[in-house]
Amino acid sequence: MTKRIAAALIGASLLAMAGAQSLPARQAARPATDARTRAAAIVARMTLDEKIGLLHGLFPPMARGKTSNELIPSAGHIDGIARLGVPLIRESDASLGVANQVEQRKGDVATALPSSLATAATFDPAIARAGGAMIGSEARAKRFNVLLAGGINLTRDPYNGRNFEYLGEDPLLAGEMGGAHIQGVQSNRIVSTIKHFALNSQETGRMVADGRIDEAALRESDLLAFQIAIEKGKPGSVMCAYNKVNGDYACENDFLLNQVLKRDWGYKGWVMSDWGAVHSTAKAANAGLDQQSGQELDRKIFFGDDLKADVASGKVSIARIDDMVTRYLTGLIETGLFDNPVPGTLNPIPYARNADVAQRAAEAGIVLLKNQGSLLPLARNVKRIVVIGGHADVGVLSGGGSSQVRSVGGAPVEIPLKSGAASSFARTTWHASSPLKALQAALPGATITYVDGRDPAAAVAAARNADLAIVFATQWTTEAQDVADLSLPDGQNALIDAVAAAQPKTAVVLETGGPVTMPWLARVPAVIEAWYPGQRGGEAIANILIGQVNPSGRLPITFPIAESQAPRAAPIGLDTLNSLEAQAAADPAKAGNYKLKTYPIDYVEGSDVGYRWYERMKRQPLFAFGYGLSYTNFTYRKPIFTGGKTVTVSFDVVNTGRTAGAEVPQVYVARAGSDKPMRLAAFTRVTLKPGEVRRVTLTAEPRILADYDVKLPGWRIAGGAYRVALARDAIDRSRVSTVRIAPATMKP
Ligand code: BGC
Repeated sequence: MTKRIAAALIGASLLAMAGAQSLPARQAARPATDARTRAAAIVARMTLDEKIGLLHGLFPPMARGKTSNELIPSAGHIDGIARLGVPLIRESDASLGVANQVEQRKGDVATALPSSLATAATFDPAIARAGGAMIGSEARAKRFNVLLAGGINLTRDPYNGRNFEYLGEDPLLAGEMGGAHIQGVQSNRIVSTIKHFALNSQETGRMVADGRIDEAALRESDLLAFQIAIEKGKPGSVMCAYNKVNGDYACENDFLLNQVLKRDWGYKGWVMSDWGAVHSTAKAANAGLDQQSGQELDRKIFFGDDLKADVASGKVSIARIDDMVTRYLTGLIETGLFDNPVPGTLNPIPYARNADVAQRAAEAGIVLLKNQGSLLPLARNVKRIVVIGGHADVGVLSGGGSSQVRSVGGAPVEIPLKSGAASSFARTTWHASSPLKALQAALPGATITYVDGRDPAAAVAAARNADLAIVFATQWTTEAQDVADLSLPDGQNALIDAVAAAQPKTAVVLETGGPVTMPWLARVPAVIEAWYPGQRGGEAIANILIGQVNPSGRLPITFPIAESQAPRAAPIGLDTLNSLEAQAAADPAKAGNYKLKTYPIDYVEGSDVGYRWYERMKRQPLFAFGYGLSYTNFTYRKPIFTGGKTVTVSFDVVNTGRTAGAEVPQVYVARAGSDKPMRLAAFTRVTLKPGEVRRVTLTAEPRILADYDVKLPGWRIAGGAYRVALARDAIDRSRVSTVRIAPATMKP
């Protein structure tokens, strides 16, 4: 990763907006079988060198001179084969927008969505799809055609530095939302990946850690999220992860790639490696890796001359090489990329319209956690408001790493890192969307001032002189590092306590990567979780605070009272890593000797990830998965629970309050008499006017009722009595019924 910073700065170029070029008429995307037949016919006309040329990609910042085509500073580049019509591939990170880490393309901005976790909090696949479609359209206009998007690793650990890039802790929610996002991206006739396959659950030791878990548990959790998202989204490519799973690196893991993905799930696209995740040639190729990405970041180019030599010696068969290339072309053809080249020059982008997509996602994903005495929405007659901290005068925080978007409007605050694994490619970055200015614009009759919170005494004095205080508290998280604990950093807990003691009307707005602990919660009447809200986050937060938008986000992740409630109280390996880094700093000449070696992480919770772990251990969290308040009230009436092949629940959702709003009814199931915790089996999001009643029917995903049976092999519904909860969050048991389900088995 250290290579990255130097590399990223080489060849940085200003992307000027060149004249628009019209797109060719759209060719329809093709079904996979057709696509594979066509791909195979193209591969049959290739030389071995041409085939191998498609199986390893360049890392543009470090690949100058390696191609005659233009290298756009970004994550990846693979030349095409003009005589066979195979297109040039340009890869960009794109989880939250077209990424531009450390501004390697000077001046090139893109629309930044809120964090994926915020999108997950909408519980609305349509919002995920719209976000993906927006990103894909900007990517195509910028001449990228393979997007490194679709991050879907389940949140096993609340301190994971990349939780903000993922879709929470539940396989059904993550699968549905991830699939929708991928659909959106690929609606632009480009490829989206899904990543990181699999069990890349923490950043500490991500290159060496060995995730240990039994097969059934893995199939019922992380793999199920991938499976559902792949079925819904049909991503052209799957990116294998850095870490090991049960002893083998994910990118040379026969079980994950050959057995699960390609055999059991019938996946037809290609497996690309993560950047710097390849460790072998024949082992990886035979285990199912189809393409080495960003080759300059690996120890060597495993899938170039070495692969050719392994073909010559018979270690890798030519049939396997053909399969690798055929899969690559199948992914390109099936998504429509192959037949719809990206423009030759930059196309104009409707940034104003796209910003609305980002704002809508942020507004729908913000979660109202507490609202004692209806402090929110802000009363129209509040005269003096003080906004404190979080750089809320200029912007909103974003998460760091390869997903970093240089957003429209630039970065009003950008703090380089002094050390740590992320320092080479991440900076703490705020998007230019000021909650303060948005509030001032929305409440012209009020005097709204700002203090930065660095001096708690000044903040307290300002809070005392105001009618109401809003503290913005931030927790920055990034790829390549975990947070050591879940406390708000930099004395912010003390600041909140001090302000709340001086001003009873205090609201806290959290901008965090995931859960944080809230030792001050009992003393603060109102709290909203705004996540990293994206480039219109300031406007979105203001709209929630003033009630222009009714909060409707629900937690996609459990908030513990304390770290000790989670399956692991801290990142495994962090102490060792810290001590090695200290030794390396003291002995720079031998820094290379102080590297983490491979070590196991035992996922003792198995498939009981997140809220299921809390139920299993009978631990009451601070805020449960699925939880979130509204400015109106909802009730459910006339529920009918039906069994049979699966569980169906029909009920009326009623908005009994005076404000329009959205509600997220959830269905949880567990086999009666089993000691298994309940699992989310269905959910929806319903928007209702005051007094409006809507009949809703939710049908359980059958694999959620089932357990994975490795002997079958496949999914097995035991049959018999099942407990069903129609619930407002993962711990709500106020509407529980029992239904009978028929026994059944399903393919893996
Ligand atoms: C990340 C991937 C990313 C890739 C390319 C890696 O460090 O894990 O998510 O797509 O870099 O930038």
